[in-house]
Amino acid sequence: MRRIALLGATGSIGRQAIEIIDAHPELELVAAASGSQPIDGLAPLTQVGGDLVGLLERADPDVVLNAVVGFAGLPATLWTLERGADLALANKESLVAAGQLALAAWKRGGGRLLPVDSEHSALHQCLENRSAETIESLVLTASGGPFRGRNRDELANVTPEEALAHPTWSMGPKITIDSATLANKGLELIEAHFLFGVPYEQIEIVVHPSSVVHSIVRFRDGAALAHLGYPDMRVPISYALTYPERAATPVPALDLAGGLTLEFLAPDADTFPMITLAREAGVRGCTFPCAFNAANEVAVAAFLAGRIGFLEIAETVERTLDTVSGAPAARLDELTACDAEARRIAETALQPA
Ligand SMILES: NC(=O)c1ccc[n+]([C@@H]2O[C@H](COP(=O)([O-])OP(=O)(O)OC[C@H]3O[C@@H](n4cnc5c(N)ncnc54)[C@H](OP(=O)(O)O)[C@@H]3O)[C@@H](O)[C@H]2O)c1
Repeated sequence: MRRIALLGATGSIGRQAIEIIDAHPELELVAAASGSQPIDGLAPLTQVGGDLVGLLERADPDVVLNAVVGFAGLPATLWTLERGADLALANKESLVAAGQLALAAWKRGGGRLLPVDSEHSALHQCLENRSAETIESLVLTASGGPFRGRNRDELANVTPEEALAHPTWSMGPKITIDSATLANKGLELIEAHFLFGVPYEQIEIVVHPSSVVHSIVRFRDGAALAHLGYPDMRVPISYALTYPERAATPVPALDLAGGLTLEFLAPDADTFPMITLAREAGVRGCTFPCAFNAANEVAVAAFLAGRIGFLEIAETVERTLDTVSGAPAARLDELTACDAEARRIAETALQPA
C-alpha cells in the first residue's frame, strides 16, 4: 500500500490524480489539500488553504503529489524532500524558484523525486538514471501554444479567452497562459537543469505542435531516445504514483499507422522572448530563477484580470529581472524575501493595457 498526500486536489492535475488513485487499490489517499474549494470527505485528512506542511506532518505519507500551482507549493516540496518521502512533482515553480535549496534537501532526505511534468517524466524514462556524462543534450518539446505562427503585432490585442484555448493540453489557467507565452518552456528548462544536473547549454527546446513526442535525450554515442504518447497527463501522473511498476492506464496506444507525422520547428524567440529570459535567469543563477517565476506569476495574474496585454507579460518579467538584485538565498525565509521583492518590482513594472 502506498499512502499518498495530494496537494492541489481540485485542480487539473489533482482531479486526474484522483482518477488514477481510485483505479489502483494499492494507492491510498490519506490527505488532500486545496486552496479555496471545499474537499470535505475526499480523504481522511483534508485542508483548504493554510499551512500545507502541518497537514503533511499529520499525514506522514509515503508519497506527496504536489499539484499546487505557483510558489505557494514551495514549503511542501522542501518538506517532502527533506523528510525523504517520495515527491511526485507537478509544481514546477517550486523547483525553479528554489533549485539549490531543493537539491540540498533531496540529497539529505534521500527519497525519490519523480517529475509529473510530461516532458520531465519523459526525460526521466529515457534517462533511466544514466549519468550526466553520457548525455549530449536534453530536448524539451513545446506545442507552441495557441499563438504559434503569429507575429508580435498579431499578439498585441489577444484576449485571455484566446490565450486560454490551448490546442493540445487541457490544463489550469496559469499553466495555459504560460504555454501561450512559452514561459512554461522557460520554467521547464530551469526545472530540467535542476532535476537532471545538465548545464543550460545542453538543454534544447523545439516546437512540436502535435505534442506526441514529450521529450528526447541525445546521448554522446549518437543515439537519441524519444518518449511518445498521446498528450494525456494521466500517463506521467500514473508513472510517478506507481513507479517503478508502470501500472496500466485507460490511455490508448498510439495509432502509428493512422497517419502520425512528427513535425519539429525552432521556437520564434522574437515573438516569444520568455524562453530566452528564463535561460538568462537560469545561467545567472542565485535567485534570478526565483525572480523570473515571481514576476511571471504577477504578470499572468494581471493579464488574466485584464490589467495588461499579452505582450506586457514578457516585458514585465524582463523589467523585473533587470531590477532585482538576484542575491543568493541559503534558506527558505531568504528565498521567500527574494520572491516578495520580485513581486513588488513586477507590480511596479506592470504597464496598464
Ligand atoms: N495541468 C497540467 O496538465 C499540468 C501539466 C504539467 C505541470 N503542471 C503543473 O502542475 C501544477 C498544477 O497545475 P494545474 O493545471 O493542475 O493547476 P490548477 O488547475 O489551477 O489547480 C491548482 C490547484 O492548486 C490549488 N491551490 C492553489 N493555491 C493553493 C494553496 N495555497 N494551498 C493549497 N492548494 C492550493 C488549487 O486549489 P483551489 O481549486 O481550491 O484554488 C487547485 O487545486 C502547476 O505547477 C502546473 O505548472 C500542470
